[in-house]
Amino acid sequence: MNNFSYRNTTQIHFGKGQIAKIKDEVPADARVLITYGGGSIKKNGVFDQVAQALDGVSFIEFGGIEANPHFETLMKAVEIVKKENINFILAVGGGSVIDGSKFIAAAARYPNDPWEIIQTYGAKVTAAVPLGCVLTLAATGSEMNNGAVITKAATQDKLFFFSEHVQPRFSVLDPETTFSLPARQTGNGVVDSFVHVVEQYVTYPVNAKVQDRFAEGLILNLLEDGPKALANPTDYDVRANLMWTATMALNGLIATGVPADWATHLIGQEITGLYGLDHGQTLAVVLPAVWIYKKEQKKGKLLQYAERIWGLTDGDDDSRITAAIENTRTFFEKMGVPTRLSAYGLDESVIPAVMQKLEQHGHTQLGEHADITPADVKEILKLAL
Ligand code: NZQ
Ligand code: ZN
Repeated sequence: MNNFSYRNTTQIHFGKGQIAKIKDEVPADARVLITYGGGSIKKNGVFDQVAQALDGVSFIEFGGIEANPHFETLMKAVEIVKKENINFILAVGGGSVIDGSKFIAAAARYPNDPWEIIQTYGAKVTAAVPLGCVLTLAATGSEMNNGAVITKAATQDKLFFFSEHVQPRFSVLDPETTFSLPARQTGNGVVDSFVHVVEQYVTYPVNAKVQDRFAEGLILNLLEDGPKALANPTDYDVRANLMWTATMALNGLIATGVPADWATHLIGQEITGLYGLDHGQTLAVVLPAVWIYKKEQKKGKLLQYAERIWGLTDGDDDSRITAAIENTRTFFEKMGVPTRLSAYGLDESVIPAVMQKLEQHGHTQLGEHADITPADVKEILKLAL
């Protein structure tokens, strides 16, 4: 196991009716900006619960944060935060609303051009407006981590930043808020959580047994409950287990003391930036291809994954690895998320475009061995057509 230092400061309020806890978390004299997306929270009763919890607290709203949130949209909210002397941001939504709100929180206190936050991966952020979250989509883990992914629509650049200043002060995780999710977003969320786990697990062995077995438990939950959520979207226990699994998949816990890959995410980000695929869709396409391309380097962990997740113990190494990768692909498809670029109307013309964006962003040494170059990405994407 590698050395590590670990802390996570987000207060979690999990379960039915927990939105009411906002009252205890937001200072009574705060000036709150409630941020949200395209309006799902106004239809499913979540906004009403939030407004009720904030009874007596001064708040204004900023809606319209799109999926894969745009820098251009978020800068409008930054102006409102400054003009209205907002001193608390309450993000109500999925990963896009939470990520966008993290950016708003940091940009409103940033002395220079806010795009610099992204260009420096958040390293120069020294302050942010305090942020709380009400999560409505189990997927990204943004509710309990300090990362955010932002898109500059004008240039199709989708990039991320990290800062301890945007770690949510608290997050409410009420599984009932996810009952209204469209099947496509439930599927995306399960795939995203799954890929978060394996980006931190299917690398190379470092004898980190806690992290490995924790990761395997999360994967087994997703395999068991993902399809159940599609079949019965209002099953509370299923939604609860998926929600906590997704949060645990990317709150830093399973990242402790182990190598991390993240090649699938970095390649996927460029595909979303250029072609607008959902985040989960890009991962479903890229992950199997990365694993096929890197199966020699990932052999130890792929064999462990094959045995402990899929029970594959017969046959030679290569056939067990191939079967595990195929089973993974089949699971993503079962979640309603296609695993080939062609299924999204894309062809080999995407390859040079993705390579060019990775070069432009300096993402030229990907993976746990930092050995995936744009030339390797070309081969990986050929496997994903
Ligand atoms: O905008 P509204 O109307 O709310 O609709 C949203 C949106 O259309 C809808 N939705 C959310 N909750 C709902 C709901 N519809 C009905 N009922 C509900 N309860 O779902 C759609 C997608 O929402 P979005 O927030 O975009 O999805 P997700 O949570 O998957 O977030 C994706 C974004 O997070 C980033 C991705 O890159 C992408 O930009 N990520 C953030 C990470 C992080 N901060 O740690 C890590 C991830 O790897 C990921 O990169
Ligand atoms: Zn992700």
